[in-house]
Amino acid sequence: MQSSILTPYTLSSEITLKNKVVMAPMTRRFADGDGCPSTESINYYAKRSDAGLIITEGTLISKDAIGYGNIPGIYTSDHIQSWQKITNAVHRNGGHIFLQIWHCGRVSHPNYHAGKLPISASNTIMNEPLGNSGLMCGESRKATIEDINNIINDYGQAAENAIKAGFDGVEIHGANGYLIDQFLHHCTNKRSDEYGKTFDDKSRFCFNVTKECVSRIGASRVGLRLSPGGHMSEISTDINDKNVFFALFKKLEKLNICYIHIGNFDDSTVYKELNNKTMTQFVRDNYSGTVIASGGYRKHESLEFLESNPSNLVAFGRPFIANPNLIRKIKNNLPWKVYQKEMLNNLI
Ligand SMILES: Cc1cc2nc3c(=O)[nH]c(=O)nc-3n(C[C@H](O)[C@H](O)[C@H](O)COP(=O)(O)O)c2cc1C
Repeated sequence: MQSSILTPYTLSSEITLKNKVVMAPMTRRFADGDGCPSTESINYYAKRSDAGLIITEGTLISKDAIGYGNIPGIYTSDHIQSWQKITNAVHRNGGHIFLQIWHCGRVSHPNYHAGKLPISASNTIMNEPLGNSGLMCGESRKATIEDINNIINDYGQAAENAIKAGFDGVEIHGANGYLIDQFLHHCTNKRSDEYGKTFDDKSRFCFNVTKECVSRIGASRVGLRLSPGGHMSEISTDINDKNVFFALFKKLEKLNICYIHIGNFDDSTVYKELNNKTMTQFVRDNYSGTVIASGGYRKHESLEFLESNPSNLVAFGRPFIANPNLIRKIKNNLPWKVYQKEMLNNLI
């Protein structure tokens, strides 16, 4: 059984991965004040190049996309040059690397926006701390059509910049309660216009962002992360959310992107609102392309999952922080070091 996870996988017409193990995107907050990834990140990613695919930490598409401090960006020439050092190092080691592109939406604070409210699908109020910043998330402002058009353009530009920086592709962060996810769920999308009135309308922002990225860099270089079940940042799952995802999957089938990646911390959770399925089962049942499972998978679960779903990939997050040499450990059947929060204090 072990071998299936270590066999190659054709992700798209242009990209064949050397194995089915994906390093999940993980925010590390080591970027400098200008949003350039730190030099330590070069080694951090290079060391993990034997994963089939590395997906980087969430990276801001514009200065307005911000939600936390010390997050890298991909919207200036300095960002592009800094990332280039990382992509070169990963490619030198024979790896593949996608940049996760991100807009935080309402998971932010006016301090990051010159006193203005952060943007979301609708006017909403959140009552959660903003990471460990000491700030609270609060009110958000409904995006205008002009805002939406600008943000879609920013995603497209970020995708182009990623290719300039040498990435093999981008993963659009549509999961975990951030801006795209805020448009996809009923609890945060109360709009009555073409971005919110019907199920299809609620899927439109996500789809238009994806289509824009595809038009800039090609479908074979675009992946999308989704959380059909709400699990973070005060996103609850409405019984009708599944219909928004059905509308989205229908359109995505024709776009032929490289994959849908599940954004979740525990993929054993069953959602009654998703026809009593886990997020991965729900997407797998309703979408025919590549699906990347993620959220609490460890060796045993991942092998079982791949065995029953051979056209898929598995992502590991925390295990990759604790075990830079995870692939070697899988190959040689060695025990995995257990992740601990303190490991986030260093980029090693
Ligand atoms: C420290 C940390 C930072 C994370 N940052 C991101 C991120 O930037 N983007 C994202 O989509 N998910 C992020 N995640 C979620 C992971 O990609 C992954 O889905 C989650 O850790 C569950 O997988 P695991 O059980 O294998 O760790 C983060 C998780 C951790 C632990």
